[in-house]
Amino acid sequence: MLSTISLTLTVLLSISSDAFAAPRSSFALPGQSIPLVRRSQHQKNATEWGIWAKNERENLMAKYGAAPQKRSSGTNLITNQNADSSFFGSVAIGTPAVAFDVILDTGSSDLWVADNSCQTGCNRVATYDVTTSSTFKNLSQPFSIQYGSGEAAGSLGQDVVQIAGFSVANQTFGAVNAVSSGLLNTPVSGLIGLAWQSIASSGATPLWETLANSGKWDQPLMAFQLTRFINATSPQALEPGGTFTMGSVNQSLYTGTIDYQNIPDTPSYWILPMTSMTVQGNSVSIPTGSASYSAIDTGTTLVGGPSSAIQSIFAQIPGSAPGTGSWQGYYTYPCSTQVNVAISFGGPSWSVSPADFQLTQLSQTQCVGAFFELSTGGNAPSWIVGDTFLKNVYSVFRYNPPSVGFAALSPTALAMNGVNAAPPTATIGSAAATVTATGASVNGNGASGLHSFNMPTVVLSVVLGSFLAMV
Ligand SMILES: *[C@@H]1O[C@H](CO)[C@@H](O)[C@H](O)[C@H]1NC(C)=O
Ligand SMILES: *[C@@H]1O[C@H](CO)[C@@H](O)[C@H](O)[C@H]1NC(C)=O
Ligand SMILES: *[C@@H]1O[C@H](CO)[C@@H](O)[C@H](O)[C@H]1NC(C)=O
Ligand SMILES: *[C@@H]1O[C@H](CO)[C@@H](O)[C@H](O)[C@H]1NC(C)=O
Ligand SMILES: *[C@@H]1O[C@H](CO)[C@@H](O)[C@H](O)[C@H]1NC(C)=O
Repeated sequence: MLSTISLTLTVLLSISSDAFAAPRSSFALPGQSIPLVRRSQHQKNATEWGIWAKNERENLMAKYGAAPQKRSSGTNLITNQNADSSFFGSVAIGTPAVAFDVILDTGSSDLWVADNSCQTGCNRVATYDVTTSSTFKNLSQPFSIQYGSGEAAGSLGQDVVQIAGFSVANQTFGAVNAVSSGLLNTPVSGLIGLAWQSIASSGATPLWETLANSGKWDQPLMAFQLTRFINATSPQALEPGGTFTMGSVNQSLYTGTIDYQNIPDTPSYWILPMTSMTVQGNSVSIPTGSASYSAIDTGTTLVGGPSSAIQSIFAQIPGSAPGTGSWQGYYTYPCSTQVNVAISFGGPSWSVSPADFQLTQLSQTQCVGAFFELSTGGNAPSWIVGDTFLKNVYSVFRYNPPSVGFAALSPTALAMNGVNAAPPTATIGSAAATVTATGASVNGNGASGLHSFNMPTVVLSVVLGSFLAMV
């Protein structure tokens, strides 16, 4: 529609321009035929026509509001919380903008923050006072979302939201006033969902999709480098967590090529079929077909999969045994065993380091593995592949064509692992590009019904080697 209009304008204005004649032709406009007269005092050659054409197009686009797009990309520095339990970045909301720490979650599609009426689960959490923002709009519709680790509920609003140097006006988000205990750990105030609109509980277009679709990005993708502190000698509660980039990849953070695999079906989660797995170099049997579907999920700490596959993994590890009590669904194994798991999603096989496999030590000799038995329901994928895996690769979430890519981490990226440092401060950046959210088809209370599924964000609190909160 827009291109039709600007083409028509180009034609009309070319005709009326008195500086140059239009290219040789006569245009039949509806209901009229206008003979075009070529002026002959100066015959432009191809180079001159080229200069003319470029100026003409840019002037018209500037005049009629479709200025040539200035594309860009931006980076949000991540914080690693509680030795790889969760990874958060920052957004700024409202006018004037207020920054909040939010979990960066490729396993869901809603943005929400605790608001200042939050009474439940918001202890010691920074909250958003919507009355301080001149651009906040209350949509007066309920909002709730269910994760593997709890629930958040409140109401829907709209406001300007900034992230990684981009700004989206009229972004729909949840202003939440009740949160399951343990879901928010100070200083985190909420979560930004980076999966596709079809699974948004609010029905709203996710912020990243508005940006990807706007053409403001150099490339239609987002990328993560996540740090590892699980085996560091004395990790602090907050450590540098790596980088989240919108609109480009950062070539200093990976080596070789990025292997992209298309996501199957209509995009919902970032799904890849898991095609093979080895443990200590031996192939293990994993389900095929849709039972191989894996959500690639930065918002989940570990890796959950079908019971049969998890059993097959530990069958390769002498001395392993099913966990009991609160460890049901997990397995223990001798801490002295370096477990090497490698996973392929149709391309190269990617190794998970033994350090990531070893979740925690339970006794003098026994450790708990980071792969656990998970039964998902509804349309949720069978595997949830979280940070245990993602810390080992540079990961790219591509809008078009819809695909997930992995590459090997560069020495620069690897050098950030386990190095104690001050966590980054909120990195909103000055807005390089401003976009208005459109087509935010708000379904109200999750008309898709997807929010009732067991969503895969598992937020674990690891304190002194034991889990305080886990669902
Ligand atoms: C076009 O004309 C310009 C001068 O008006 C001249 O400098 C240029 O060489 C010409 N280009 C060609 C391809 O003839
Ligand atoms: C939005 O309005 C509803 C009433 O329609 C109210 O219950 C809710 O608290 C308001 N939300 C905020 C964030 O003020
Ligand atoms: C979008 O937000 C701006 C203020 O940021 C407001 O003026 C405008 O009315 C909003 N548009 C819609 C459709 O809500
Ligand atoms: C890419 O990552 C490196 C290492 O973290 C960083 O120094 C650099 O600023 C990043 N580049 C961009 C464009 O963000
Ligand atoms: C942590 O694990 C990584 C990956 O296996 C390894 O390279 C690193 O040396 C380990 N760090 C410590 C302190 O053991």
